Amino acid sequence: MTKKRNIPISHPGTGEEEWQALREPLMTGWLTQGPKVEAFEKGFASRHGVKYAIATSSCTTALHLILTALGVSSGDEVIVPAFTWVSTANVVLYCGATPVFVDVDPNTFNIDVSQIPKKLSKRTKAILPVHLFGLCADIDAITEVAPGIPIIEDAACASGSAYKGRPAGSLGIGGAFSFHPRKSITTGEGGMVTTNDEELVEKVNSLRNHGASLSEEERHHGPQPYILPDFNLLGFNYRMTDLQGAVGVVQLSKLDDFIEERRKWANFYSEELAGIPWLHTPVTPIGYRHGWQAYVCYLEESKSPMSRNEIMKALYSKGIQTRPGTHAVHMLGLYKQKLGISPDDYPRARDCDRYTMAIPLHNRMSAEDYEFVVKTINSLSRI
Ligand SMILES: Cc1ncc(COP(=O)(O)O)c(C=O)c1O
Repeated sequence: MTKKRNIPISHPGTGEEEWQALREPLMTGWLTQGPKVEAFEKGFASRHGVKYAIATSSCTTALHLILTALGVSSGDEVIVPAFTWVSTANVVLYCGATPVFVDVDPNTFNIDVSQIPKKLSKRTKAILPVHLFGLCADIDAITEVAPGIPIIEDAACASGSAYKGRPAGSLGIGGAFSFHPRKSITTGEGGMVTTNDEELVEKVNSLRNHGASLSEEERHHGPQPYILPDFNLLGFNYRMTDLQGAVGVVQLSKLDDFIEERRKWANFYSEELAGIPWLHTPVTPIGYRHGWQAYVCYLEESKSPMSRNEIMKALYSKGIQTRPGTHAVHMLGLYKQKLGISPDDYPRARDCDRYTMAIPLHNRMSAEDYEFVVKTINSLSRI
């Protein structure tokens, strides 16, 4: 067997161009939300087929802004999948509302739409499906079972993904993206709200900037230096810096090449790992463009030579980093205590929490790295 390598689970595709892009804001001194953020927003909106994109400090804050702007508050319920990153549910709590979990489909890792109807109530204010790992949720099916209920896309992992020819972020009333370093494109931290809704964009814009009635640009570049904005809403400081905006512009220009490269190697994995009876590789249903934020497998422990955790440890010993796909939010301490739910209430999310494994897929890997991962996983089958 080949020697140990060092293959991280993820490594941002940043370099010389991003470094150079930082010069301008640093030299002009316009460091917070300004021209670079605006350029990033315009480019992102155009790439994702929406009229508006509003940059934020993270996807979590982007989601919080959308829910707040839609008036989600105490007494309301918001439907969320049980297998997702904790912030999908946290943002509902931030608003004083209740997250109502729905189990997931283990083939796609996304919300199981057939289970939504029994969770709808008079208090359902919105549905918050997640495009997990870059694969869009089945939005048309959700609209069919819950007509008239606003859909907010958690598109944290879905920059560049598409569903039936429509880009992620254009599928509901609003979408929220993440530019955390584990995502396909990154600004360090950062997020983006996308929408075609004029009312939503106006509120999100103001809420992002403390609830100000006037943008910083209007205030600082207008001919009336004495003007201070009015504050009619309880807002937040969720702005993106222009340093991040400058990096975002460069990263966005690389997005489609990044996804294409990831797609190629995801196909390689799926072909080379197809013969392993205990490893289910991710599926891309017809009509979907996967964004390949992560390549997440499901392990069938009854057939595998070792448990999921032992397999992850064995790969680690060869220098291959892996991670669980994500967690089942209903099993986290906060949610167990707050909502009194048991792990078995959402058995598929529970099992995804226990049996999923992301293997390295990013834009800093060589062909030799991919071959090494495949060889090493295949060798475990022969133990
Ligand atoms: C599905 C999902 N939603 C929300 C988030 C939160 O994104 P951020 O870290 O930008 O707040 C993440 C981040 O990992 C995520 O995976």
